[in-house]
Amino acid sequence: MTQPVDQFKRPLRDLRISVTDRCNFRCAYCMPADVYHEKFEFTPHEQILRYEEITRLARIAVGLGVVKLRITGGEPLVRRDIVELVEQLTHIDGVEDVAMTTNGSLLEAVAQPLKDAGLARVTVSLDSLDNDVFRRMNGGKADVAPVLAGIRAAERAGMTPIKINAVVQRGVNDHTIVDLARFCKDHGYILRFIEFMDVGTRNGWKLDQVVPAKEIIQRIDAELPLEPLESNYFGEVAERHRYRDGGGEIGVIASVTQPFCGTCTRLRLSADGSIYTCLFALRGVSLRDPMRAGATNEELSAILAGVWQKRTDRYSEIRTEQTAADKKVEMYYIGG
Ligand code: GTP
Ligand code: 5AD
Ligand code: SF4
Ligand code: SF4
Repeated sequence: MTQPVDQFKRPLRDLRISVTDRCNFRCAYCMPADVYHEKFEFTPHEQILRYEEITRLARIAVGLGVVKLRITGGEPLVRRDIVELVEQLTHIDGVEDVAMTTNGSLLEAVAQPLKDAGLARVTVSLDSLDNDVFRRMNGGKADVAPVLAGIRAAERAGMTPIKINAVVQRGVNDHTIVDLARFCKDHGYILRFIEFMDVGTRNGWKLDQVVPAKEIIQRIDAELPLEPLESNYFGEVAERHRYRDGGGEIGVIASVTQPFCGTCTRLRLSADGSIYTCLFALRGVSLRDPMRAGATNEELSAILAGVWQKRTDRYSEIRTEQTAADKKVEMYYIGG
């Protein structure tokens, strides 16, 4: 099969795999606790892809050009035996990079086994070092300390450089960004601030809560002087900067104020086996159903290639108040 390009000539390079729609946090910008309460019904077990099924689909995607895999959730570390999936994915021929995005709270105990299974790097979400601010943002589910312990364990295991993601919301944690930057700089972690996005429909997104990346950079630069850096690779979402004193790097992901759809090569696979060609998609296409009905690898590959070839997504470039209110898929379901 030749490698497909979409309607804007973008190739398929990255597959982001959500392994579960469950999470032990309730971040208000993702899974607000009043919606995702104790009785909320997550996807039933039998509808979730088994590891063998995920690996089979990942291999098919690699056949179509994917070189980079990212394991996400929900929270990927709440799924049992996740190390086995890592082991399977890192053994696929043609895969150049396997990473994971995690909230870090359960990372301490599994960092070394993950590394041993071939996981090269982790990105840990940490929105603030201020314990009260952090707890408020994650729905009161965790303190900063276990997340820091997870980060340190990943560092000890050699999953470096560690990346830290922080979503910035005005009036919620923006007063703590310089502290977080200083901490990451001192420890050699690559921090990336993410603009609060209108993913899904349940997080009460408002434009006035978005702190533009430019402002974030200005506020850091005022305390810890910065200069811009070139991007590492085509399609990198983070705009990179380095500290003028040589003390490391920091980035901003400006999906709202400076969209990067033009270079978007990402496909998302939900825990229940549907593919989505955009983080803001309204619907996906199931690969699980044909797979469980007996489709061959060639048939599944043809479905995937067809979906990619038809792709016209550029949501962040065409966002309006109207689209922000559309019934989009939720982020915890398809993975950040
Ligand atoms: P590296 O491989 O380490 O460079 O990872 P990355 O830059 O892809 O970063 P990561 O996967 O951690 O993504 C960081 C965050 O950027 C995600 O959690 C999302 O919030 C946002 N993001 C990633 N991909 C997209 C995308 O395609 N569209 C939009 N709008 N945001 C994205
Ligand atoms: N806006 C920006 N980033 C978000 N994330 C989750 N929801 C949002 C949102 N509404 C981030 C998480 C994590 C990654 C998976 O996506 O904080 O770092
Ligand atoms: Fe869980 Fe991550 Fe969503 Fe927070 S952002 S609720 S940690 S999936
Ligand atoms: Fe890609 Fe959609 Fe994000 Fe644009 S908004 S970068 S098309 S995932």
